[in-house]
Amino acid sequence: MAKQEDDFKKVISHAKEYGYVFQSSEIYDGLSAVYDYGQNGAELKKNIREYWWKAMVQLNDNIVGLDSAIFMHPTIWKASGHVDAFNDPLIDNKDSKKRYRADVLIEDYVGKIDAKIEKEVAKAAKRFGDTFDKEQFLATNQRVVDYQEQGKAILKRMGQSLEKEDLEDVKALIEELDIACPMSGSKNWTDVKQFNLMFGTKLGASAENAMDLYLRPETAQGIFVNFLNVQKSGRMKIPFGIAQTGKAFRNEIVARQFIFRMREFEQMEMQFFIQPGTQKEWYEVWKDKRMKWHLSLGMGQDNYRFHNHEKLAHYADAAADIEFRFPFGFKELEGIHSRTDFDLGSHEKFSGKKLQYFDYETNKNYVPYVLETSIGLDRMFLAVFSNSLVEEELDNNTTRTVLKLPAVLAPTKAAVFPLVKKDGLPELAQEIIEDLKWDFNVLYDEKDAVGRRYRRQDANGTPFCITVDHQSLEDNTVTIRHRDTMEQQRVAITELKAIIHKEVDMKSWLRRME
Ligand code: GAP
Repeated sequence: MAKQEDDFKKVISHAKEYGYVFQSSEIYDGLSAVYDYGQNGAELKKNIREYWWKAMVQLNDNIVGLDSAIFMHPTIWKASGHVDAFNDPLIDNKDSKKRYRADVLIEDYVGKIDAKIEKEVAKAAKRFGDTFDKEQFLATNQRVVDYQEQGKAILKRMGQSLEKEDLEDVKALIEELDIACPMSGSKNWTDVKQFNLMFGTKLGASAENAMDLYLRPETAQGIFVNFLNVQKSGRMKIPFGIAQTGKAFRNEIVARQFIFRMREFEQMEMQFFIQPGTQKEWYEVWKDKRMKWHLSLGMGQDNYRFHNHEKLAHYADAAADIEFRFPFGFKELEGIHSRTDFDLGSHEKFSGKKLQYFDYETNKNYVPYVLETSIGLDRMFLAVFSNSLVEEELDNNTTRTVLKLPAVLAPTKAAVFPLVKKDGLPELAQEIIEDLKWDFNVLYDEKDAVGRRYRRQDANGTPFCITVDHQSLEDNTVTIRHRDTMEQQRVAITELKAIIHKEVDMKSWLRRME
């Protein structure tokens, strides 16, 4: 645990030091669970967004984009169920006066059981070496099987109690598991209560005429209320999808773990409109497609797993998370939800307008079912960033900090250095920049010895460093160094574009999904 916490602290401080993520309003002592993205963070975020957008919109001829407003008519949130049911179960510790999400306390308890399982797996893998079969071990080792069953039973009971709104049983479960306040160790708990997560605001010039609004807690509703606009104007035939990225706001009670759980965050959501009765099939299709998208980034298959929901949201008939191994353990990264006709049906009722699709083949109208994929951009950022940050032991007994971002997402693709600040080398380096900058984000650096400049770019996540030396003036060649292998090649300046392009080209990365 201490190592995990230590690693996570390194992630947070590296993100700040290299201009990726800053605490919001820092000079005023910060605003809790709100963050700003710096010069590199803004680029990384943009690249992740683009990688998602291309995979969803550009590569699927039956998915189109949308950019709906954050402010929406307040009845939308009544219809969507958010006014009545978008709550977190809260519990306070009477001694420490700290407030927690009751479900998170229980999930963290199960997380500790999962950590024990992983420890057993690691021990066994070491003992059995190449012959180790993880699946078999998980299915047959009695201790591990017991742990798994224990975890499942706890989550099942919690899911059922939350589903039935049986908050007394949630408290009873916390007490039976002997869960203590993480801050004080006290087990003196209040009852569990529900707390609505939406932020309210007002629209209008004067207090009397102002209209109460909510800041949207998900982007999805903007898609639902535009379903017919897009379907009709785009002559879309079912099955088809509408995708959008944008800010969402939630008054998270237990906002912690850096950008994992924020109060203002960005979502990338896609609603796929389908014929009723086909939802099971599409649920599997989208689980598979989304996992392939994640795996295409090469961050390791072992770092992902599916988690099926025991407790379903008020709108879903099936739901699974794609969980990622964050520095603090496996946690939700993306949700795939079979939302039935709940949202469109409800908007029909509340608005009095028909939100139906006319199927020319069967000559019938129906309210489509919806399959949703929903991923937090900031959470994806944290997954990519934390997974990429490594301390490497080098052959000469030194270490280097390197941010092994997937090259396609790296904020800067190449840094160009003159070996020395004279003899025409800076001018040639600038010429190279002038040429490359039309295709890639590149930067110029002439400060410090070249070795230090390499280390700076390693820590920054830049996949290539290009060094201009005296030989460059004679034969128009430079050295290009690869971040991950540290290998250096002597190449013609004219080849640079093709070398960089080969590694950062979005098309070849996305093709890995096939
Ligand atoms: N439209 C469905 C929906 O909003 P959700 O599971 O509540 O479902 C989807 O959220 C995704 O949004 C999550 O998987 C997560 O990646 C991201 N997300 C949710 N709350 C967040 C928060 N407070 N901070 C950062 N990301 C969040």
